[in-house]
Amino acid sequence: MKTQSQPDRIIIFDTTLRDGEQCPGATLNVDEKLTIARQLARLGVDVIEAGFAFASPGDFEAVEKISAAVGTENGPVICSLARAIKADIEAAARALKPAAKGRIHTFISTSDIHLEYQLKKTRSEVLAIAEEMVAYAKSFMDDVEFSPMDAARSDPEFLYQVLERAISAGANTVNIPDTVGYMMPEEFGNLIRGIRENVPNIDQAIISVHGHNDLGLAVANFLEAVKNGARQLECTINGIGERAGNSALEELVMALHVRRQYFNPYLGRSIDSEAGLTNIDTRQIYKTSRMVSNLTGMLVQPNKAIVGSNAFAHESGIHQDGVLKNKLTYEIMDAQSIGLTDNQIVLGKHSGRNAFRTRLKELGFDLSEQELNKAFLRFKELADKKKDVTDWDLEAIVNDEIQQAPDLFRLERVQVSCGDHACPTATVTLLTPDGQELTDAAIGTGPVDAVYQAINRLVNVPNQLIEFSVQSVTAGIDAIGEVTIRLRYDGRIFSGHSANTDIIVASAQAYVNALNRLYVSLQRQASDEKNSEMSNRPSNASIVSMVEGSV
Ligand code: KIV
Ligand code: ZN
Repeated sequence: MKTQSQPDRIIIFDTTLRDGEQCPGATLNVDEKLTIARQLARLGVDVIEAGFAFASPGDFEAVEKISAAVGTENGPVICSLARAIKADIEAAARALKPAAKGRIHTFISTSDIHLEYQLKKTRSEVLAIAEEMVAYAKSFMDDVEFSPMDAARSDPEFLYQVLERAISAGANTVNIPDTVGYMMPEEFGNLIRGIRENVPNIDQAIISVHGHNDLGLAVANFLEAVKNGARQLECTINGIGERAGNSALEELVMALHVRRQYFNPYLGRSIDSEAGLTNIDTRQIYKTSRMVSNLTGMLVQPNKAIVGSNAFAHESGIHQDGVLKNKLTYEIMDAQSIGLTDNQIVLGKHSGRNAFRTRLKELGFDLSEQELNKAFLRFKELADKKKDVTDWDLEAIVNDEIQQAPDLFRLERVQVSCGDHACPTATVTLLTPDGQELTDAAIGTGPVDAVYQAINRLVNVPNQLIEFSVQSVTAGIDAIGEVTIRLRYDGRIFSGHSANTDIIVASAQAYVNALNRLYVSLQRQASDEKNSEMSNRPSNASIVSMVEGSV
């Protein structure tokens, strides 16, 4: 008989919206988080870690809204992170209330270095807190996950004791984080085996792993962990996350899929079993990757495994020749299996509103009437310029609309004049949050620089542009161009993304989107500071930075 810690499939726990969102510049607003959560559900992840409810009102709202909209009876488990502190656990429980299946994920550090310098607590204090807080979380919810942070650098004997106490207090999942990405695959595998062999009640819990990619080994470490008994993998889309990121969902899932015969015996299956090792619908991988990249502004490197633009491209003559004769000569998986070729030409300039709405629904976008009207106008403009409108074009314009916060700065008009004998000049009109129309003009080193100088004169928030990139959504001269930018303000990074057939317009809109994120964060900081002065409570900004520094 299988024990709870030995199910014969792998549980995929996605933390894109929590750990992934912690990477500089990847901040998402609530609507963007909801859009991603819906897509994660279509992808088939088992658990969505939707945020850290106590960290900020925005995080709380996101966990609550995702719980209500995506955490349905047949949907994924929705999870909120919580330090092993009562107030955190209470906030998580409140935010998760609308979810049919909710999970509280509570954590405390166990390595001596964290205990001495960060927590300033003894081992016996940490043991008692872990036990007490797991029991406290259990009083709100049956599904409780416990993480001993920095487990990989903790004394294994102490780790075994903490895990035993957490499980006896009710933890159904114990998650083993390599918080600093330090482990080698064999060591990580041994750590998991040690836990299985030395924690007396381990058969009452699922073993999960969480790991950062500081040495580029997170995926390899997880696969070794699977061989030694881990059955839940905590990962993010495109591997985004703190520092070098997390283990990448698409790489893990495709490794388990392509090499299932290799992994089958470790999960107690017959070697040639064709049943999936995860519940993931792999054909949704490419779409999810693009959505997360567009909304977070975190570009995917061209040579990134599985989802990079070169991942299925064959450049050398010998490879091309082989692939033309038989794909298997140089390909271990089919582009179709990750949904890369599902880019159908679906609509044209004569398509009506109903066809448009139906296709968006099929693509998983659930728009309000107002959003649909705006997106339809964009589609009509696009269809006038571009003969065939594909699914990817539709996704680009809808994501673009989702990114534009309605009550902040809006781009009204942009006009440039440039050329090899002209001084690049731009005129820009913005609508301010209180509805004023402002126009200014500026010159720059090129048309984009001129546009950004003009916007800076209007918005007047001094910042540094640190990244600018343009990519085309599809091939062809009439393709939509996607612009992604990152800017730095006061040591923090904000990203912006936009798509348009005119890359100057996309550049202007991406910049306005990034400035709007900056603007929201300044507003939030001001209101946090006001609230904390009134309540004598640490401000959310300081809680977030405390958490960012440690999680
Ligand atoms: O990296 C880490 O240790 C974490 C824990 C909260 C699981 O993110
Ligand atoms: Zn982490």
